[in-house]
Parts: sequence; structure tokens; C-alpha cells
Amino acid sequence: MASPKPETLAAFETAKGFMPVREGLALYEAAAAAGALGLPLLEVGTYCGRSTILLADAAREAGVAAITVDHHRGSEEQQPGWEYHDPTVVDPEIGLMDTLPTFRRTLHRAGLEEHVIAIVGRSPQVAAAWGGKLGFVFIDGGHTDEHATGDYEGWAPHVAEGGTLVIHDVFPDPADGGQAPYRIYLRALASGAFEEVSVTDSLRVLRRTGPGI
Ligand SMILES: C[S@@+](CC[C@H](N)C(=O)[O-])C[C@H]1O[C@@H](n2cnc3c(N)ncnc32)[C@H](O)[C@@H]1O
Repeated sequence: MASPKPETLAAFETAKGFMPVREGLALYEAAAAAGALGLPLLEVGTYCGRSTILLADAAREAGVAAITVDHHRGSEEQQPGWEYHDPTVVDPEIGLMDTLPTFRRTLHRAGLEEHVIAIVGRSPQVAAAWGGKLGFVFIDGGHTDEHATGDYEGWAPHVAEGGTLVIHDVFPDPADGGQAPYRIYLRALASGAFEEVSVTDSLRVLRRTGPGI
């Protein structure tokens, strides 16, 4: 099983963000395996760079780029008054969330800046402008149906055959969390284009086995 470098894991553990270590290790393993295709690894949902650190390390090992997409204004549940709001990532001048500065500091401290291409924008718009194939897509963006569906429809078609699609926060039981990521996971499986490779807590790793999307 491929593991991140100890210093990468230490940087991941101290970074602000939402990914538990067990899922992070599974994410790294999937990204490292996908790197063999020689195609870029892409993440939707940078936030402050916690999971990006792991993708950057896997990309460095494989000699490919890690690309991460976020508008950096936060998801619904991260806005003021909501459960996951962090007032330290609000731009005091305009009063809106801005996770980009924290993300840049995180990557700099981890020594991984040169392995990451950060795209600031809305996922469906970036996906619509995207031209090439990807070896790996990690969906961890907005958790409403609108956003999760936009991420799936925008990015799943770009996954190369043999490439990997990872979806975070998949909760089959509604008591454990929102259902939008679960619904796109079911949709990926039902398409016939993906088969399941592994399940680690709420992280689902799928491999593209054919056309169909
Ligand atoms: C759950 S956080 C990502 C967590 C991160 N992967 C980590 O490991 O800590 C979700 C992120 O998705 C971003 N986001 C939500 N909807 C988006 C959209 N439509 N386009 C781009 N980014 C979006 C939010 O700004 C937020 O930073």
C-alpha cells in the first residue's frame, strides 16, 4: 500500500480542513495508483488545502500535476451561522469567506507549491472549459444536489478509461449526513462506466471501466 512521506502526513494532519486521517491515507493510495496513467490528478474542493497536500505528494511521485478547483467562498454549511463556519477564513475587508490565502500558506509550509495548479472558479464552469483527460478526479465540493450533480456531470466524463473517480462524504444512511454525494456515487455505478475499488468510511474509490457517461 502506497503511503505519503512522513513529512507530508504531518503537514496534512496539521492543516485546516475536513478529511480524517484514515480517509486521507485511502485518498493518497488511490491517487498514487492513478498516477501511473501519467495524467493529471484533479480535486474539486480545495478549501484550505488539507487533502490537496496528499494529492500533491502523489503527483510529485508520479511526475504529473495536481490540479485543485475551488471558488474559495465556501460551501453552504461553511457560511456564517452554519455548523462548519470558521471566522478566521473570512476576508475582513469584504466580509466574505476567502480560503485562498490559508490554502497558499498550507501548501507553502508543506513544500508542495510547485506540484499544484490551483484554479479559482466554479466547478461547472471550469469543467466546461476543460479539454483533456484526467487520471484521477476527487469530488469534495459543494454537498447540495445542485453542486454534487454539477461536479459529477462536469468532471466524470473527463476521467480516462482505467482512471479513478473518488467521492467524499458518501453516507448511505441519511442519519450520518447529506445524501447528494451518495446519489452521485449511485449514479456513477449505475452508469456502467465505473466499478467500485474500495470503501473507507465515507470515501468511495471507483475505477472507470468503460464509456457510458
Ligand atoms: C468540504 S470543503 C473541501 C474540503 C477539502 N477537500 C479538505 O480536505 O479539507 C468544500 C469546498 O468546496 C468549495 N465549493 C463548493 N461548491 C463549489 C463549486 N460549485 N465550485 C467550486 N468550489 C466549490 C467550497 O468553497 C469549499 O472550499
